[in-house]
Amino acid sequence: MQTEKPNFKFSPDLYDEQVNWENRFKVEKDFFYQLFKSNDVKKVLDIGCGTGRHAQLFSSFVDEVYAMDPSHEMINYAKEKVITSENIKLMYGGFNELSKIKENNFDAITCLGNTLPVLETRKKVKNALKITRKKLKKGGIAVFQFINFEKDMIEKNRYYQPKVLHKENKTFIFNRHFEYDKLKTRVDFIVTILNYKNEIETFDVDTTMMCTLKTRIFNKMALNSGFKKIKYFGNNTNEIFNKTKHISLFALLKA
Ligand SMILES: C[S@@+](CC[C@H](N)C(=O)[O-])C[C@H]1O[C@@H](n2cnc3c(N)ncnc32)[C@H](O)[C@@H]1O
Repeated sequence: MQTEKPNFKFSPDLYDEQVNWENRFKVEKDFFYQLFKSNDVKKVLDIGCGTGRHAQLFSSFVDEVYAMDPSHEMINYAKEKVITSENIKLMYGGFNELSKIKENNFDAITCLGNTLPVLETRKKVKNALKITRKKLKKGGIAVFQFINFEKDMIEKNRYYQPKVLHKENKTFIFNRHFEYDKLKTRVDFIVTILNYKNEIETFDVDTTMMCTLKTRIFNKMALNSGFKKIKYFGNNTNEIFNKTKHISLFALLKA
């Protein structure tokens, strides 16, 4: 199957290394467990699943997990290094391919780790929301996790504090830099690798253009796609999202 080209160039092992999964799951585990339980979720799809860590987490909460990503590298890595549960089905493809698969009537669809803005344009985001809505059963839920694209927030957090990792006599330094613009926000992922003598071995900058997805715009698009109720939570909190306070958010949509 010919898949759409992902606008995200991180290699799976480097992506997996720079995410602090333990910290992330400390909060997300309980959030999803409660959410799936209270909505009687038995069949879930994680789209833009990346290295498959959420699919693996969800597999102990529900009967069936589908995990989909347009990057062959991500899916292969997930298959080889992360997925161990038998109730997970991995599939190649992004939102375009999702519209073509026969599987539907999902109780829940998740799209996490800022994947929706990676689609780059408002048109593609709108389309993704429509496809998600169509693939859910009536009363099903969708969860989108993305950063707070309010101009002041992006400008205040233009540089993430570098993440430093020591592995196999090497030092990995991960930086992120954001450049706000009204329609598309530029994100530079900068990776520096030092050898055992602290000499620079690799210096790599990958740029991703992201749709500047403010909640006001997202809300309009989600309602136009047929979602009925939308709630926003500040990421890693149980608080209602506050656009002047939270750096990222969960949007919870009901079909
Ligand atoms: C920032 S990573 C997030 C991975 C994972 N969901 C997480 O929370 O860590 C973005 C993922 O979106 C995928 N992606 C890129 N274009 C996509 C598309 N059109 N549809 C679905 N996923 C896409 C990339 O391959 C990548 O794995």
